Amino acid sequence: MIKKNISASAFLVNESRARAEQLSQDSYAKLWVDASVRDLWNLFSKEVYLNDPQALAVRNRFFLECLNHFFADNPQGVFINIAAGFTSYPYLMDCPVQAIEVDLPGVVEYKKKKVKEFREAGNLPWRDIAYVAADLNCPKGRDALYSELSQRIKARPSFMLLEGISYYLNPEAFLAFMKTAARLQTTGSQLSMDYWLPEVKKNQVFLKFCDFLERRCNHPNRSYNLITPLEMQSMDGYDLGKTIDVSAFEMQISKKPVLQTWEERLPENFVVLVRK
Ligand SMILES: C[S@@+](CC[C@H](N)C(=O)[O-])C[C@H]1O[C@@H](n2cnc3c(N)ncnc32)[C@H](O)[C@@H]1O
Repeated sequence: MIKKNISASAFLVNESRARAEQLSQDSYAKLWVDASVRDLWNLFSKEVYLNDPQALAVRNRFFLECLNHFFADNPQGVFINIAAGFTSYPYLMDCPVQAIEVDLPGVVEYKKKKVKEFREAGNLPWRDIAYVAADLNCPKGRDALYSELSQRIKARPSFMLLEGISYYLNPEAFLAFMKTAARLQTTGSQLSMDYWLPEVKKNQVFLKFCDFLERRCNHPNRSYNLITPLEMQSMDGYDLGKTIDVSAFEMQISKKPVLQTWEERLPENFVVLVRK
């Protein structure tokens, strides 16, 4: 596994997706999990959040449905997954399209190597995926990413996903990235993400989550990029398409909801923004 820092969370979430495979519909998540990930996940489950598999499965399904919906209308479009980690969307979508996955250099190198291994072993089908390394917190990284993506996207419709990343970025870097995204996307393109509201600071699961990241994953401090619904609705260049929280979407897709009590879940919101 990659050394324990914030990227370790990219492995943890896949163990959760794998544990709720029927609901997440991610049959590839388990490929990324080894004994060291399982050990960390067991600690996470005990110390933070027993219902993470359900939460991650619901999140996976929300974004998968958005992707399927968008690319049914835009089969020539491009899927850009920012901070893609070890997600499997290009392998899960109804109609695979050209995909670009962006993450920190160490994650991108590891993913490229493992995808090749999994494909050669017959465990993963081929997909048209380009891997791009960038640090979104750094202006030079965002500029280089803009050049790289603008050449690849050209004037095509795009769906940009920021899953499990909005809260970890510096607030200034997040807003700067949103401006970059607006410059890259054509009218009618979509950008979707999960995000946390400021009131999350009063939530016990969140507090335990922060504590776990600090103690077990070397996450340096407790400053998270929290976003109000008004700020989300007012992002430059975008209209609000759809917004829902994890518990409401759970009610739509799960016969056994477990995320209905705010105090007992990590309260996540999902949004789809549409480029004006
Ligand atoms: C919680 S994981 C989410 C991964 C994936 N999107 C998912 O939902 O499974 C956070 C991801 O953000 C990436 N990341 C963290 N900081 C980043 C930065 N400054 N620039 C680019 N990627 C970053 C990590 O490497 C990791 O893959």
